Amino acid sequence: MEVVVAPDVDQFAANWLVEQWDEINALGLATGSTPENLYGWLIQRYYDGDIGFADKTTFNLDEYLSLAPNHPQSYRATIHRQLIQYVDLKPENFHVPPGLTNDVEAACEAYEDAIAAAGGIDMWILGIGHEGHIAFNEAPSEKETRTRLVDLSDSTLYHNARFFDNDLYRVPKQAITVGVATILEARKLLLLAKGDAKAQPVAEAVLGSQTEKLAASWLQSHEACVVALDHAAASELLTRAPAGESVIESADGIRHTITFAA
Ligand code: GLP
Repeated sequence: MEVVVAPDVDQFAANWLVEQWDEINALGLATGSTPENLYGWLIQRYYDGDIGFADKTTFNLDEYLSLAPNHPQSYRATIHRQLIQYVDLKPENFHVPPGLTNDVEAACEAYEDAIAAAGGIDMWILGIGHEGHIAFNEAPSEKETRTRLVDLSDSTLYHNARFFDNDLYRVPKQAITVGVATILEARKLLLLAKGDAKAQPVAEAVLGSQTEKLAASWLQSHEACVVALDHAAASELLTRAPAGESVIESADGIRHTITFAA
């Protein structure tokens, strides 16, 4: 992993993505609060004429089961509101797992097939959950998992209740998520984390053993994973890392670089 700590991590991540924009055909998108400003920067760069989406295909990581596509808190509606409505992505190239389906298994298979048909994901943008999940890969999520139906953990229901008027009972209890293997197959990964609430899961993901108990830890095995952090999200990691070192080693002996962006 290449850990980068940046004072304005959204702008750093946007610049980093724009630099390699031409190499990205299929872009994987996360929802949640974390990437919202990053998407703001991408929209800005789109309006500046630096990037376009007309020749891109996007795939979202996950979707709540039981929410209609036009439900304001569905991930389809959320990513449309945060990014897609502003850019020239062709509707047929916009993919989100279905929230409503009468054949979940077939829908999951079809999603994997669509990713394969697009030539695989060139870049997944990822956030991290409070318990270390990526997408909705709740513990336990094995490294070989693929797109599937999952039960959301109590922690996830609690943290996502804020999107449902803080009413726990209104948070969907299940979701369709791409799997850990689906994520690891991407050519490049960008894990973005901000705020001190993410400091603990980030430190575990980077420095702990790879384990099904914390899906983000599997990212350690990827050859091209950038972990972009603001100072708050990096705080626990920096506490555990030897002072002044630019290389840190995980419990599994995997070496990660750590740099500070201006
Ligand atoms: C959600 C999503 C994840 C996201 C994470 C963190 O449950 N399924 O893709 O990365 O939780 O969300 P946030 O960025 O709002 O903290």
